[in-house]
Amino acid sequence: MACTAEASIESSQKRRLRDLAPAFFAAIYPDMLRAFHLFTTLSRGNEVANEVVAGLALLAAIFMPFAALIFVLRPPTNSIPSDYDVAKRRLAYLAVAAPTLYVFIGVVLGMTVPDLQDEIVWDTFWLGAAAWCWMASPSKAHASRPPNSGRLRIAHGIVATILIVFVSFHLSNHLVGLAGPDLHKTLMKAGRRVYRSPFIEPLLVSCFVFQALSGLSLAWRWSSVPGTDFYRAFQIASGFYLSIFILGHMNSVFVYARLYLKIDSDWAFATGAPTGLIYDSWNIRLLPHYTLGVFFVLTHIASGLRVVLLSHGTRPLVANRLWMGTAGVSAMISATIIFGMCGLRVSLPVATLVR
Ligand code: HEM
Repeated sequence: MACTAEASIESSQKRRLRDLAPAFFAAIYPDMLRAFHLFTTLSRGNEVANEVVAGLALLAAIFMPFAALIFVLRPPTNSIPSDYDVAKRRLAYLAVAAPTLYVFIGVVLGMTVPDLQDEIVWDTFWLGAAAWCWMASPSKAHASRPPNSGRLRIAHGIVATILIVFVSFHLSNHLVGLAGPDLHKTLMKAGRRVYRSPFIEPLLVSCFVFQALSGLSLAWRWSSVPGTDFYRAFQIASGFYLSIFILGHMNSVFVYARLYLKIDSDWAFATGAPTGLIYDSWNIRLLPHYTLGVFFVLTHIASGLRVVLLSHGTRPLVANRLWMGTAGVSAMISATIIFGMCGLRVSLPVATLVR
């Protein structure tokens, strides 16, 4: 009998250790970037082998959030979730946002305590998050509020439709970077006349802050619901990522570039000139951050659209296929933007118009 009890405690502890895997993935995320940097700048050994290892390390960093997402999708052990069930799910959602959180923390530390190594704060943060999850009670039923907070969801949806206009322009602006910084600058200059105007800019910033905070609140509440399907889990995870991305991105643009460095938040700033995104040990963190930021903003909008379609009677098969198609296109847009930011150039017919 005592043996069975001991075995059950041991297997429960093993399960709980496995539940901490997302925190472990997030904690070693900077090491993936470091490995990429090491192998791209290594002058010894086989050049092709170094490039392959560097490529794999970068792919591991970009796909790390999806590995964390798998942990959200594991079936719940109880129909009534305990504090521990909710904590482990939230830990996995938080790990999805690691690439953007790492940039946010890096920028804030760079401005406030430049001598403190990012990794010390990063490891302490994930150790704390893992300890918080470990200590959550597996026997206490989680007292969650239902996520059906109608008014907040409606407001979040309405503000999203306004922000889609800016996001469409902003991403198109980055897409034309493929034709070179000149076209990017010309389009940005034209756009700034609108989005930086004294009336529009405060409105835009307020809408984004509202969107980030309301998104965090919705994602937090939804994250307590057990047994969410892939689409819902993806919507929550991308919401977590975007909320942190938006707050960090605005901090980078408004506080870091404009107030702290007193430089223009232009193409050079975005692409980490003069070293660029690839060969700088700090800037490389911007690559997954931007790639996933673009991918998640587009797929998050698609997730919202899917919910609206389903509530209007669209067949799940049709809504899901539409979502899949949009996710494929989003991945292509995101990859194209990032290739352009890394120096890939194609001649776009529109580029001749600005010469
Ligand atoms: C490849 C991805 C992205 C890059 C490289 C990027 C870069 C930039 C840059 C350089 C600015 C300064 C613009 C200026 O000075 O006129 C900016 C502003 C901004 N970006 Fe992004 N961005 C990216 C994606 C996003 C996404 C996905 C969102 C929304 C979810 C977003 C939201 C904003 C906002 C709200 C501003 C402030 C606009 C203002 O100046 O009033 N960005 N971004």
